[in-house]
Amino acid sequence: MMNDIKDIGIAPEGKSRIEWADSMMPVLRLIRERFSREKPLEGTRIAACLHVTSETANLMRTLRDGGGLVRLCASNPLSTQDEVAASLVKDHGIEVFAIKNEDRETYYKHIRAALEINPHITMDDGADLVSTIHTEILDLASGIYGGTEETTTGVIRLRSMAKEGALKYPIIAVNDANTKHLFDNRYGTGQSTIDGILRATNVLLAGSVFVVCGYGWCGRGIAMRARGMGAKIIVCEVDPLKALEATMDGYSVMPLLEASCQGDIFVTSTGNKNVIGKSHFEKMKDGVIVANAGHFNVEINLEDLEKLAGQKRTTRKDIREFKLKGGKRINLLGEGRLVNLACAEGHPSLVMDMSFANQALCCEYLVSKRKELEKRVYEVPKAIDANIARLKLSSMGIKIDGLSEEQREYLSSWRTGT
Ligand code: ADE
Repeated sequence: MMNDIKDIGIAPEGKSRIEWADSMMPVLRLIRERFSREKPLEGTRIAACLHVTSETANLMRTLRDGGGLVRLCASNPLSTQDEVAASLVKDHGIEVFAIKNEDRETYYKHIRAALEINPHITMDDGADLVSTIHTEILDLASGIYGGTEETTTGVIRLRSMAKEGALKYPIIAVNDANTKHLFDNRYGTGQSTIDGILRATNVLLAGSVFVVCGYGWCGRGIAMRARGMGAKIIVCEVDPLKALEATMDGYSVMPLLEASCQGDIFVTSTGNKNVIGKSHFEKMKDGVIVANAGHFNVEINLEDLEKLAGQKRTTRKDIREFKLKGGKRINLLGEGRLVNLACAEGHPSLVMDMSFANQALCCEYLVSKRKELEKRVYEVPKAIDANIARLKLSSMGIKIDGLSEEQREYLSSWRTGT
């Protein structure tokens, strides 16, 4: 068995963290129990590139119990929980290649190590496995049944690959399932981003001016939760529809340049690059906090910040202070990497339960449909999405109404008018 992890000796802490997460992942547990009996993934080699957290550990256990041969690497150099990686290796016999704080070279070495198993399935959070295969080891593609993609940024990349005819195997856009993005992106990112900012800084949100760049599902969640703690929210958007929604949700909406001189805390969640740059830094107040909640660390222009800064120092574990020439200080959290995973633990298990239930069931779907699928990006099958919603409600002890026969008929008839 192969692996590259920080320290196998810290496995006991990882083991109990994985159990703790499992106690809040009832849907995934049901799937795992069925997988153990039915072995739908028997002999399937699965390379997974995900944040190595206690929630991911429970997904890996599920795939393994379903008969899968799993190898896991990190989808971000800062998000690995080393004790979880250790326990996966020691207690669960899963091969892991991930070390928190690994440099760029090691990060890609680990991605290549995951691909060395010649996977039938790739599981991505940000499309790094797919990109590496398509740019470096295209020979692998012919043996791959399909892949799954966890995040908005990855799905955007993959759709543009498919549009150009470059995609060499089918992908399921797990992110786009309703039971994924409406919950994970909104409530998961909403809570965990605030969690990351608070753990890093212990700042008071009440009364602060909190600028959210990007009003997708993540931005909505962040704005909603920051408002809940008493911050005044400014939303910056490029999409008129989203800007209108933010306005009617009760937020101030304005260009980022205008918001730059008002904000105390700035968070990017756009999926785009260089959203905050020189012109914004120059307008910011002394002591502001700047963080990124988007997948890649490209949203804050770090080069601009480095160039503007006279002095730099680390003031707390996850805070880098940049002192600009006139003396103004800008505090960058978690190196501009996604703040919820770099400075906290990512989304809570209860919400990852649904995201990873989608991953497990889509993996099963890819194996069963491997002969039929084309080289394009697929939606998560509606039946899987609806089933996860039903199971989640039931796990929470929530019952809902059903349609009567008369109501069902009414909905499907077009003859009845006013
Ligand atoms: N992405 C966001 N939060 C996560 C978590 N807790 N585990 C894995 N991936 C995540």
